[in-house]
Amino acid sequence: MDGVTETTRCVLHVGCGAPGIERLHPVFRAAGRWQEVRLDVDPRVAPDIVCSTTDMQRAVQDASFDALWSSHNIEHLYDHEVTLAFAEFRRVLKRSGFALIRCPDLQAIIEAARTDGLESVAYVAPAGPVTPLDMLYGFRPSIARGNEFMAHKTGFTDLRLGRLLIEAGFAEVRTKRALFDLWAVAIVDPGRTDSVLAQLSTSGIEFDGA
Ligand SMILES: C[S@@+](CC[C@H](N)C(=O)[O-])C[C@H]1O[C@@H](n2cnc3c(N)ncnc32)[C@H](O)[C@@H]1O
Repeated sequence: MDGVTETTRCVLHVGCGAPGIERLHPVFRAAGRWQEVRLDVDPRVAPDIVCSTTDMQRAVQDASFDALWSSHNIEHLYDHEVTLAFAEFRRVLKRSGFALIRCPDLQAIIEAARTDGLESVAYVAPAGPVTPLDMLYGFRPSIARGNEFMAHKTGFTDLRLGRLLIEAGFAEVRTKRALFDLWAVAIVDPGRTDSVLAQLSTSGIEFDGA
């Protein structure tokens, strides 16, 4: 692959959606530093690996990635599948690795629904206006077009997300709330916490303790 060197690190982009550099978090975009491997359950988005995050055993080896990026993906799992997926996130990461996760913030969504109403426009995404109802159950226009993979089946608060990641075997987890998004960084080796937080900080994502 062009530009890949011995120092290039690999990021597994799970639930990657359609191709597009804008879907990869900036921390993983530095040319020559990171190689992206795209994984999605939906073959229509042309991922490198077609499989569910709940079982990546046949497609992804143990301890084979330096990082994992999951953006607006884990809420598409049934709740009982979340522990399977988080155990898989931990399994595929090297000891020096970390997972960066973004998902809807259930607490912020409920507050918006109570204050402004379920069908109020919370923000306008490239795909169109997004309401608390869309954030709770999935973007309705996509689901109406027949993409059932876009349905949301569970939800997370910062405390719950952090607890589930620790239970999956991560040593250190930091979370943060930002508008309607919830972020987590889950670190395998606690000795790497400062360097991972510093690395994220250079790309503009600050967790407490960075
Ligand atoms: C809302 S899109 C997010 C796309 C991209 N990550 C982004 O933030 O723009 C959710 C993606 O998760 C995928 N997905 C849903 N369930 C999945 C599963 N069990 N395993 C892997 N991908 C899944 C869907 O096919 C879809 O591409």
